[in-house]
Amino acid sequence: MKKLEIEIRETKDLSEQQIVEINGLKQQHWKYSEAEHMRWFRENIKQDDKHVLLREGGELAAYLNIVNVDVKISGKTIKMLGIGNVCVSVTKEGSGMGAVLMAVTNSYLKRKKLCGILFCRDKVVGFYIRAGWEKVEAREIAVEEKLCDCNAMIYDPLRTIPENIEKISVNRDF
Ligand SMILES: CC(C)(COP(=O)(O)OP(=O)(O)OC[C@H]1O[C@@H](n2cnc3c(N)ncnc32)[C@H](O)[C@@H]1OP(=O)(O)O)[C@@H](O)C(=O)NCCC(=O)NCCS
Repeated sequence: MKKLEIEIRETKDLSEQQIVEINGLKQQHWKYSEAEHMRWFRENIKQDDKHVLLREGGELAAYLNIVNVDVKISGKTIKMLGIGNVCVSVTKEGSGMGAVLMAVTNSYLKRKKLCGILFCRDKVVGFYIRAGWEKVEAREIAVEEKLCDCNAMIYDPLRTIPENIEKISVNRDF
């Protein structure tokens, strides 16, 4: 069996080669050019954002990013950690990598005592529910003040978030 390695790095500690590697993995799932992926990364990812890298036999097998985000719920602003760009290399999907990635992320969130938030399409809601996340049944979901036709999911083991959320919005794209 190949060795599994997990690391959590800040953007400022990533080499240029690692940034290219991350964007190469994202490109397997989101069909933008390499230049567009790199531009999105430069424009949206901040120096103190975190990157969870899961390697198998040295190769990047799964990835996600963790960013500081302000979440407005029914008028009140709450600091949370936003999880984005969750992906597993196409050759390794269905072998438990995604579950490992989410387990590592959940324990990071618990350690930081912060609630996690992410946005996703219908087809992956089940994956996140299996990973211990919950779907927010809000009437309105917005990212950077633009309405979003997606699902909002949260990881809130300390039960800090109110129930019956009407509107949820985040201040940045991640
Ligand atoms: C979604 C994704 C991260 C899942 O990773 P993965 O390594 O294939 O998932 P795992 O093998 O670890 O599966 C973990 C569990 O979730 C389930 N699962 C996986 N994908 C699922 C899906 N789309 N819907 C529902 N359940 C799913 C698995 O059956 C497994 O369940 P089990 O614990 O009962 O056996 C991966 O398929 C991927 O990279 N997809 C493309 C990118 C993407 O859409 N990312 C989400 C962005 S919001």
